[in-house]
Amino acid sequence: MLLHIPNVLSADEVAYFRHQLAGAGWADGKLTAGYQSARAKDNAQLPDTDPVARELGGRVLDALGRSPLFFSAVLPRRIFPPLFNRYAGGQSFGFHVDNAIRYERGANGAQVPVRTDVSTTLFLSSPDDYEGGELVIQDTYGTQRVKLPAGDLVVYPGTSLHEVTPVTRGERLASFFWTQSLVRDAGQRRELFELDRAIQRLTVAAPGDPALVQLTGVYHNLLRRWSDA
Ligand code: NI
Repeated sequence: MLLHIPNVLSADEVAYFRHQLAGAGWADGKLTAGYQSARAKDNAQLPDTDPVARELGGRVLDALGRSPLFFSAVLPRRIFPPLFNRYAGGQSFGFHVDNAIRYERGANGAQVPVRTDVSTTLFLSSPDDYEGGELVIQDTYGTQRVKLPAGDLVVYPGTSLHEVTPVTRGERLASFFWTQSLVRDAGQRRELFELDRAIQRLTVAAPGDPALVQLTGVYHNLLRRWSDA
């Protein structure tokens, strides 16, 4: 399932992010790529230890915390600290699958594994500011091409083959990160998301209906069965 979530960051927040990123310490994206993806990857990336990456990453997490739609769709258990990349001058990232496990630096240097169930790209450049730079995702329902307004994000299964097409004009800034979900199976996650959306709609359309209590019970009981929390 691909899901577009609009307005995760406000226009003011996007402007602040771009200002901070303009003066940040960009490095070659190949430094953080795996063996296979290093051959396909040509972009700039902020090192995870960069103070700007940490500060803005924290702001991304705060914004996600204000998004009930992100929570409902992803059911996050652990979110890998958001990273930032930049494509310009014909740069691209050819088709690849992201590593299944990422290691987050924990307290006392411990490496905490994060299973990459769900991938997210948060767009920070306006689509008018660059040519190309589409995120192309091969989903079970075919190939999807994604290029969103600044401040919007897309979530898609971590299992998907995906690429970023060459940026032939301007510059494309984005934040990207992975989430380990409480529910490992993408199909089960989708059923829970659909059920939750239906419950939200009924809460508005028929707030007093006792079936709402029943459906909410079914939602939580399925989550209890399927979550590995
Ligand atoms: Ni990727």
